[in-house]
Amino acid sequence: MGRKPRTTPESRRTFLWKAWVGMAAVAVAEGVWVTLGFLRPRGPVEAEDASVVTAGPVDGFQPGSVTAFPQGKFYLARLDGGGFLALSRECTHLGCTVPWNQEEHRFVCPCHSSSFDINGEVVSPPAPRALDLFEVRIENRVVKVNTANVLRRSAFDRTQVTVP
Ligand code: FES
Repeated sequence: MGRKPRTTPESRRTFLWKAWVGMAAVAVAEGVWVTLGFLRPRGPVEAEDASVVTAGPVDGFQPGSVTAFPQGKFYLARLDGGGFLALSRECTHLGCTVPWNQEEHRFVCPCHSSSFDINGEVVSPPAPRALDLFEVRIENRVVKVNTANVLRRSAFDRTQVTVP
């Protein structure tokens, strides 16, 4: 006398049908999840990338002005022509923090007296090169500065300016 099979063809068919329905349901749920992920509005840039500093609206910065952003360790310079530069506050001589002197309209290093103009260009050595830059981008008339990468340069040139 042989052993009785544990499953009948009918119960196997039912099991396979349920497994198929289960896998189809998972596939549909994944499709809905991915679609909603694409459709969901994205959060502000700051939430995505902590290295991006939202400086403010373009019109909030007067031409010829320099605004300090201590948390980002940079100055936002709005040039007379309306363009922007984000200048590192580190002196290119030995790294002292360089304050903006509004009366002299220059950055003057307190350590060894190097000075830089509003473009970050060296006016007085011993600083060997212009102040470093950060990337400036303008989105919907709002100025944003990416502090993730320091852009070294030997001197100022107009291609470094971001124009709104
Ligand atoms: S560190 Fe600025 S001039 Fe030396």
